[in-house]
Amino acid sequence: MPQNGHQPQHRADLSNLPEDRRGAELAVIVPTFNEQQNIVTLLDALRSSLGDGPWEVIFVDDASPDGTAELVRELATADRRIRCVQRFGRRGLSSACVEGILASSAPYVAVIDADLQHDETLLPQMLEALKADEAEIVIGSRYVSGGDIGDWDAGRARMSRIGVRLSRVLVPAGLKDPMSGFFMMHRSVFDRSRARLSAIGFKILADLFASAPEPLRFKELPYRFRPRNAGESKLDSVTAWDYAMLLLDKLVGHVVPVRFVAFSIVGAMGVAVHFAVLTPLIRILHTPFMEAQALAAFCAMTFNFALNNSLTYRDARLRGWRWLRGWMLFVLACSVGGVMNVAVASFIFKSYGAWVLGALGGIVVGSMWNYAVTKFFTWGRSGT
Ligand code: GDD
Ligand code: MN
Repeated sequence: MPQNGHQPQHRADLSNLPEDRRGAELAVIVPTFNEQQNIVTLLDALRSSLGDGPWEVIFVDDASPDGTAELVRELATADRRIRCVQRFGRRGLSSACVEGILASSAPYVAVIDADLQHDETLLPQMLEALKADEAEIVIGSRYVSGGDIGDWDAGRARMSRIGVRLSRVLVPAGLKDPMSGFFMMHRSVFDRSRARLSAIGFKILADLFASAPEPLRFKELPYRFRPRNAGESKLDSVTAWDYAMLLLDKLVGHVVPVRFVAFSIVGAMGVAVHFAVLTPLIRILHTPFMEAQALAAFCAMTFNFALNNSLTYRDARLRGWRWLRGWMLFVLACSVGGVMNVAVASFIFKSYGAWVLGALGGIVVGSMWNYAVTKFFTWGRSGT
């Protein structure tokens, strides 16, 4: 009988069920955003690499406007090894992988991109290595001998190398390609790391290594990174910000939520905007102080909203009408926060006569209020 509380206590007798009803042994998780043109090619590639073995493929699609999910579901009617998890109002490669893994019961899980840049012919070899217990996680690697980054331009290659170097605070030195998005692991690796995963941004592998309670036994298999099959990369300048947030979350996330750190950085930039508006209004246009102050605060709040929407809450980014609604809620919430700021500050000032302490107290209480309220009401996040 299993001793561990996480294991099922009651084991059903499954031995006399027909073999063709058995669940998949390997789940291949494919995060997708606008990959419609790659789906059929990828499925063909998976079929020829994995053959008739007990595998399934789970596409985790973030409501792609190009109809990726619709196509996957259509193909799934002809092949029940194909499944689709669709998410709405959310984005993120890492969190998509996590949800794909959670949607499967397979004892082995792989993650692979939809655009055929990763070499799917390695999958059987990865599975064999896991079954032979050579490792508990096997990584498709561009940086071990025999591997290659393909025809990346110098800029992207440099970015990747910087990323690898930075990741050294999180992952073991022996791991050559911690930024790889292509790997296979025993389910227990995921289960052990799950509670501590940050699931921010693109780098799910680095996250897994950093979240593991004990060092992972890994193996790297070389492959050549191919050119993208169709469509375009989703990597953009903000991916670097996401990566910084992942590193920060791993380093200080247990003390202070990384979103609050991001929110505070944006808030500090907002103060600069405030003065950039206030100064010319008073100095040049001779606007009365109260009016100038109100206008400056309004501009700073709008700036903060826009920046938080595209950075801090990038995964829950509001667009169109929702942007407008979110902006109104944000300005409303922060106005209340402003009143609280002044109230707390003057209370401390009156009680202790210390104006610096009063100002700081007001700022801390006001920004915590702003953070908590806008997180929930503006971006609809109740968890992290
Ligand atoms: N569900 C979901 N949500 N999928 C996404 C999202 C998202 O927000 N963003 C990207 N994807 C999917 C893409 O559709 C693709 O299947 C895969 O994630 C990788 O995205 P690309 O845009 O092709 O990334 P890349 O080629 O620049 O970088 C990839 O390869 C590198 C090397 O292995 C990523 O996997 C990197 O993490 C990896 O370092
Ligand atoms: Mn790609």
